[in-house]
Amino acid sequence: MPATTEELLELHGRIRACTVCPLHLTRTQAVPGYGPVSARIMAVGEAPGETEDREGKPFVGAAGRLLTQLLESVGLNRRDIYITNVLKCRPPGNRDPEQAEVDACSHFLDEQIAMLRPQVILLLGRHALARLLPGAGSITRLHGERVRRGDRVYVPLYHPAAALYNGSLMETLRDDMARVRRYLDEDELKVSLATGPAAFGSPPPSSPELARAGSAPTASPVASDGNQMDLFE
Ligand code: URA
Repeated sequence: MPATTEELLELHGRIRACTVCPLHLTRTQAVPGYGPVSARIMAVGEAPGETEDREGKPFVGAAGRLLTQLLESVGLNRRDIYITNVLKCRPPGNRDPEQAEVDACSHFLDEQIAMLRPQVILLLGRHALARLLPGAGSITRLHGERVRRGDRVYVPLYHPAAALYNGSLMETLRDDMARVRRYLDEDELKVSLATGPAAFGSPPPSSPELARAGSAPTASPVASDGNQMDLFE
């Protein structure tokens, strides 16, 4: 059974309340994730930065703006994508995640993946790659490649922040995003999306939290979670 919006929001609530690792002491708030439970594509970054920590949403700072542009450049709308991170709380000063933090936190990512069952996961940077495809290879080798595991496709990409700091990666990232588009077009994903309300390029549903692609929205927007709504208004 696919997960429901309510189940996803319940998970978000547990993430916001989590005090298992010391990052809860320095965070402003946890950043669970954002996007529709019906998303067929998930994007996984490293950890919230300063803006995300302040706003409670993933990829809303400079790296997020670049991510939005990159997605749009290949006809993808971030409203159709569920975006999250390996760590749900900001490491102080945006330092790299520590292994103990990844160990304490990433069961939440596993739960998100189990709930959404995305067909494609974009791995934004080496930390997402290491957590979801351990031992597969480095980001330098795998960026832009399609890695199949069962009926799921993973595409490792350079982290948008890396391209902001190192301009030479920008063209690579743009080229890799164009490859993502080709993979989507080649895959049967195209078929399943083309029939649903969340099809790429189609107008977004009135709420990200409505029914899964392919079924008519029947519920009212979930008003209990303002954070889930305002990107879509
Ligand atoms: N970088 C990340 O990895 N995640 C965010 O949410 C923002 C910046």
